[in-house]
Amino acid sequence: MNRKEFLKVCGGSCLGLIGISLLNQSCTGTHYVQSTVINDQLPVLKSEFTEIKKNKTELRKYIVVKSDKIEQPIIVYRKSENSYEAFLLRCTHQGIELNVNGDILTCSAHGSEFSNKGEVIQGPADQKLKSFTVSSDEKNIYIQLI
Ligand code: FES
Repeated sequence: MNRKEFLKVCGGSCLGLIGISLLNQSCTGTHYVQSTVINDQLPVLKSEFTEIKKNKTELRKYIVVKSDKIEQPIIVYRKSENSYEAFLLRCTHQGIELNVNGDILTCSAHGSEFSNKGEVIQGPADQKLKSFTVSSDEKNIYIQLI
């Protein structure tokens, strides 16, 4: 391998590592959960809201739930131990999947923004996000799809 080939291989590898590192950083803020629809509900363990940080147990403010049966993910905000709000991550302008930035949900297509209550902060979208009723028991929450 000559010098030029070596630099080409190393440069490509370094760019790949940087890309993976950036991807990991962008993913660490949002916790994704896969669930299966049972009787028109998506059950999710309450423990999915728990995370260990520096040997301390903390509670996530939200998680994102995915399922094969729904086109786009659902974000679930934890308001208290038995109070949750869930919204479809689908822009009400033209149906693009929203990006999660903490309490603000943004659409990369035309710039709409939504609050953690599903309300429009910035258009062109002019309708609230689709919301779901969420019930809970001791162990799980249940997102009612219909
Ligand atoms: S599709 Fe989201 S702002 Fe247009």
